[in-house]
Amino acid sequence: VPAKGPPGPVRVPPYACQRPTPLTHPNTSLSEALEVLAEAAGFEGSEGRFLSFRRAAAVLKALPSQVMAPSQLQGLPHFGEHSCRVVQLFTRIFGVGVKTADRWYRDGLRTLDSLHEQLQRLTQQQRAGLQHYRELSVPVQRPEAEALQQEVEAAAVDILPGATVTLVGGFRRGKLHGHDVDLLLSHPQEGLEAGLLPHVMCRLERQGLVLYHQHRHGHPEDAARRTRHSHTMDAFERSFCIFCLPHPPGAAAGGAHRRAVRVDLVVVPVSQLPFALLGWTGSKHFERELRLFSRKERGLCLNSHGLFDPEQKMLLRVASEEDIFRHLGLEYLPPEQRNA
Ligand code: GTP
Ligand code: MN
Ligand code: MN
Repeated sequence: VPAKGPPGPVRVPPYACQRPTPLTHPNTSLSEALEVLAEAAGFEGSEGRFLSFRRAAAVLKALPSQVMAPSQLQGLPHFGEHSCRVVQLFTRIFGVGVKTADRWYRDGLRTLDSLHEQLQRLTQQQRAGLQHYRELSVPVQRPEAEALQQEVEAAAVDILPGATVTLVGGFRRGKLHGHDVDLLLSHPQEGLEAGLLPHVMCRLERQGLVLYHQHRHGHPEDAARRTRHSHTMDAFERSFCIFCLPHPPGAAAGGAHRRAVRVDLVVVPVSQLPFALLGWTGSKHFERELRLFSRKERGLCLNSHGLFDPEQKMLLRVASEEDIFRHLGLEYLPPEQRNA
């Protein structure tokens, strides 16, 4: 008969890639508060504090029940003195905590506003982002993301039969809204994907869908080299875009209005597609920990191009995301369990 009394400590493994993280969980307000603190720390340039808050938030998201008292955090990974104190503050006087977090958030916005005064200092990309800032701060809804995927796919298939367009990022993890739409372009025959993106962009521009886009050339010769060093940025050909969408039905503004949506288009050769899928599905924190786990626990280098064994000096071959988890000796986690 199980003993009554306080529940025993929950065992949480240290890496986010070792545990399932669902989209919804019982500690949302706490994890969101810690994420705002992480964002504020990152904004100040404190990478160390950013990571500690982000890791603590991710642990909360994996807990099966609601944290009611700070003592319940004892023994959990990434809950050092500082994060424990912060949670204590939030659990005791939650209103004050949220207010402070909110002030940090607004500080960020003020800084952004002040950028308006020095437009000439910004890159073209930053300027476009700023110009559409208000519209871009409205989250993209899932049906909009799916409609956009279909528009891009229709254009791609028309130009190159058999071309594929996959919705990745938060929407692939089951999120209902996001800050942008991430799409991977590929073709089942290696090499045919080359040169597709500029044609797709032309087509979409003619359809009046594009407010802004900036193309970045791929560096295929870098891909293998990059796998050996875990670069955060990948070497795929890519377009940073701002698309123009009709306002969602029911929105306050009239039906004639259109709004701006951030879109990332990435071109991926089919041989690297499982790695790009895994790398671009996120979450960012899940990816960071998956790469750290690969390096520290398995001695392998993982990124969006491949998985490299530095001892054997060879790239490991895979056909699917499942194969990558298998190579790493990890239980497979489907996209909707990668919301760390
Ligand atoms: P929302 O867009 O806010 O819904 O969240 P998201 O998870 O989709 O975030 P985001 O669009 O920023 O990124 C999606 C995934 O792509 C994350 O895992 C990122 O780490 C990854 N990603 C974004 N930019 C790059 C990049 O330049 N290179 C690589 N390799 N990955 C990237
Ligand atoms: Mn995204
Ligand atoms: Mn993105």
